[in-house]
Amino acid sequence: MRKAIGIFDSGLGGLTVLKVLAQRFPNESFCYLGDIARLPYGNKSPETIRRYGLQILAFLKNQNVKAIIIACNSASTVFLGEKEFEGIPLLNVIEPGAAAALAVTTDDKIAVLGTSATIRSHAYRDTLKSMAPGVEVIEQACPLLVPLVEEGMVDDTITEQIARRYLSEIKSKNFSTVILGCTHYPVIKTDLIKVLGEDVKLVESGDALADELKALYQDNILIPDVGTRQIRVCITDLTDHFERLAHKLMFPEPITDLERVVL
Ligand code: DGL
Repeated sequence: MRKAIGIFDSGLGGLTVLKVLAQRFPNESFCYLGDIARLPYGNKSPETIRRYGLQILAFLKNQNVKAIIIACNSASTVFLGEKEFEGIPLLNVIEPGAAAALAVTTDDKIAVLGTSATIRSHAYRDTLKSMAPGVEVIEQACPLLVPLVEEGMVDDTITEQIARRYLSEIKSKNFSTVILGCTHYPVIKTDLIKVLGEDVKLVESGDALADELKALYQDNILIPDVGTRQIRVCITDLTDHFERLAHKLMFPEPITDLERVVL
C-alpha cells in the first residue's frame, strides 16, 4: 500500500510547508525531497524546471508515496492544471494560494511576491483572475530574498532593507493582501511585516494546501496512514549548514530521517 505523502521543493524553503502539513496531519508520514544541489529554480527556464520536476516526481513515485505536493512555487507554475502524475494525485501551491488570498481580501487588491520564474509565468495573476475576474493584481519578483533565507539572515536589517526596495510599490498602492508565492518567504515573515505593517494579510501555502489535502481524505481519494510515523527529508546535497537550518525550520516537528539522495 502507498504510504507517505510526497512533497518537493528546490531547497529547504519547502520545509515551511512540510512543517504545517506535519502539524495538521499528525499521524501521516511524509517524504520530502529538497533539490539543494540545483537550487535556485527561480532563475531557470520553464523547460529546465520541468525537467528537474519530472525527475523528482519519478523519485517520489519510487518511494511509494500516495500523493505528491509541489511545494515549490517556481515548479508549480510548470505543472499548473496537472492533477496527477502516473496515477498519483498531484497538488500544486498556486491554486490553493490564490483561493486563500481571495478568501481574505476585503478590497479585491492582491499582491504576489515570487521568484523571477514564478512572476514571469503570471501563474498567480491568471489563476486569481480566472477565479475572480475583477480582482486587481500586482506581481513583484524578489530574487534576492531566497539567498538571504538560505544564509539564515532572518530578522536582519539587510533583509529588511532589500524587502523595503521590493515592496515599495505594494506599500505605496496600499495592497494589504500579499501572497508569499515562494516557499522561502514565510521564514522572513517578521522582516516583511516590519516593512508592510502589522495589518497586512500574508497568505502562505501551507495552510491552504492542508485544506486541499483534507478534501482528498474526505473524498476517500487518500487513505489515512497507520503504523510508525516517518518524516523523511531527502536532499540532493547535504552540508552541516543545511542540516542545522533544516532542524531549526522544522522545530518542534521532528525529522526522523535526513539523507542525501541521487536522483
Ligand atoms: N522554492 C522556490 C519557490 O518556491 C524558491 C527557491 C528557488 O528559487 O529555487 O519558488
